[in-house]
Amino acid sequence: MSDDATLDDLLHETRRFPPPEDLAANANVTADVYETAAHGPLAFWEQAARRLTWAQEWEQVLDWQPPFARWFAGGRINVAHNCVDRHVEAGRGDRVALHWEGEPGDSRTITYAQLRREVCQAANALAGLGVSAGDRVAIYLPMIPETVVAMLACARLGAPHTVVFGGFSADSLRSRILDCDARIVITADGGYRRGAASGLKTNVDEALKGCPDVRNVLVVQRTGQDVAWQDGRDIWWHDLVESQSTEHAADSFDSDHPLFVLYTSGTTAKPKGILHTTGGYLAFAAWTHWAVFDLKPANDVYWCTADVGWVTGHSYIVYGPLANGATSLMYEGTPDTPHRGRWWELVEKYRVSIIYTAPTAIRTCMKWGDDVPAEFDLTSLRLLGTVGEPINPEAWMWYREHIGGDRCPIVDTWWQTETGGILISPLPGVHACKPGSAMRPLPGIAAEIYDDHGEVLPRRDAGGYLVLTAPWPGMMKTIWGDDERYREVYWSRFPGAYFAGDGAKWDSDGDIWLLGRVDDVMNISGHRISTTEVESALVSHPQVAEAAVVGAPDPTTGQAIVAFVIPRIADGGTEEAGLAAHLRDHVAKEIGPIAKPRQILVVPELPKTRSGKIMRRLLRDISANREPGDVTTLTDSSVMDQIKEKIPTED
Ligand code: WTA
Repeated sequence: MSDDATLDDLLHETRRFPPPEDLAANANVTADVYETAAHGPLAFWEQAARRLTWAQEWEQVLDWQPPFARWFAGGRINVAHNCVDRHVEAGRGDRVALHWEGEPGDSRTITYAQLRREVCQAANALAGLGVSAGDRVAIYLPMIPETVVAMLACARLGAPHTVVFGGFSADSLRSRILDCDARIVITADGGYRRGAASGLKTNVDEALKGCPDVRNVLVVQRTGQDVAWQDGRDIWWHDLVESQSTEHAADSFDSDHPLFVLYTSGTTAKPKGILHTTGGYLAFAAWTHWAVFDLKPANDVYWCTADVGWVTGHSYIVYGPLANGATSLMYEGTPDTPHRGRWWELVEKYRVSIIYTAPTAIRTCMKWGDDVPAEFDLTSLRLLGTVGEPINPEAWMWYREHIGGDRCPIVDTWWQTETGGILISPLPGVHACKPGSAMRPLPGIAAEIYDDHGEVLPRRDAGGYLVLTAPWPGMMKTIWGDDERYREVYWSRFPGAYFAGDGAKWDSDGDIWLLGRVDDVMNISGHRISTTEVESALVSHPQVAEAAVVGAPDPTTGQAIVAFVIPRIADGGTEEAGLAAHLRDHVAKEIGPIAKPRQILVVPELPKTRSGKIMRRLLRDISANREPGDVTTLTDSSVMDQIKEKIPTED
């Protein structure tokens, strides 16, 4: 996307899709809200916070001591009460909170009343294990209802959770547990993916060899596979939770109380623990979910296909939808199990009306063919969303035509783990959507694009760095345990503004186009992975002397990881294929399968400047099949020829 030819093509996109008339006429948010919010942002956010139920009202809407914000300061609130109990108290206990479908085809329907009972039981169980407000709990679970229950039980107790994506390795799990000092881990024996039971408990056992302070592991039985057991430490969820009382009196917590820590890749090898707090985050997740998806809680069936292990799952599977009293679908497995129409079969089965997914998934479905979704009745859909990476207009159009029946608006939503919720997106009842553009900052959001010197660019035909110039309620609090790094990463590039790390451009209509990361973070299938993290995994292998990693364009995953590796013993080629395959597995073991390089090129040297800096720009050119740019600053310009020789010609 950062390729200039592509960008020019994008900005000449002329197709426009205005909102369907009935949607616009009944939209939750109308055009005038932008003005209201611009005139009084604090009053506007205060209004959003009033959609929640507070145990005690705030004294101050915003206490802003840059770069630290306290939203709704002095207010007290319980997140689980807002996501569950209050809907039951309002007489909506029979509404379905979750339609859950397991990959093998088993299913559960959970109403708000049932969810309340299960969350209370789990909260009682955790309290019985000594968990109290402020204690951290690690959650390493598949996409099953217990995952939602576990998160809400933690929130109910004021115990911040850290959810670790089930696709991450034992090593990644360990480093996260240690970084936030979690003492309890909630996991499952395994989960179903691609038709098979994959293990999770084994990874926990492995991770905990280096975590002496973890006292208990609560294990959900999902697959029934054999698991190793450590008496005294390991406890079955069904033994402990199901015998608990279904009543639990929830305390309220300060609006600024920690709600969760979620790790994301930065530009160093060590992932950052993004801390979100309670009141501002929930108000923001709930308002944005209601506004951007035009949610009608009594009628819609909403489905976000993300995994709960990512922020999209936190804000738009768990906290936003449940705070709004929505009915959601949750699906455990992969889209092609047992057949490539599984997602569309689910849309038909549950009459899904809103679907929120990632461009990479859309491109994969495109590849599988138009005839796959065509076999299913998708007429229940009324709104489509995407998130995670720029969506190319071709995929956008395919989504609109083949999934949205040419009638559903598409909201392309830009945001980050750090932002807590959506910041840039069209509103479906207001804007004529453009394929490929995330369009406008939401009401109350102050986004600008700066040039290199921190000058605000005009809102017309200008590109630079995306920044936020005023705080918003969903913004992160800090990096767990590292205020300095928080300041440094987000607030030092342009003093006074939040630096998102994304390039962006205003087009001639004043709409925003996101252009991808401007730092060393790659975006693989919408997941952030840092080049340094993969490089350090590679050099941790005894056969690797040096490694450089870049993101290369990929038609399906957006970007793909390409690694250039100098082996310790140059063995002349025959072993190279074997080494590359071996190193791919090594990276999967160190970080997780999502970080596996698509390609590993074993090279004799890396292009370096005279000061010893690796010139990734040249490696990016090579991996994108472009002629490498200026090589004059290299110590040895023949290095590039040696590397080029290693590139397979069919690529
Ligand atoms: C990218 C995911 C273009 C961006 C919610 C951002 C996007 C990173 C979009 C955050 C979008 C997310 N268009 N790029 N609609 N949405 N991104 O923290 O580079 O996993 O900085 O949060 O994804 O990824 P994260």
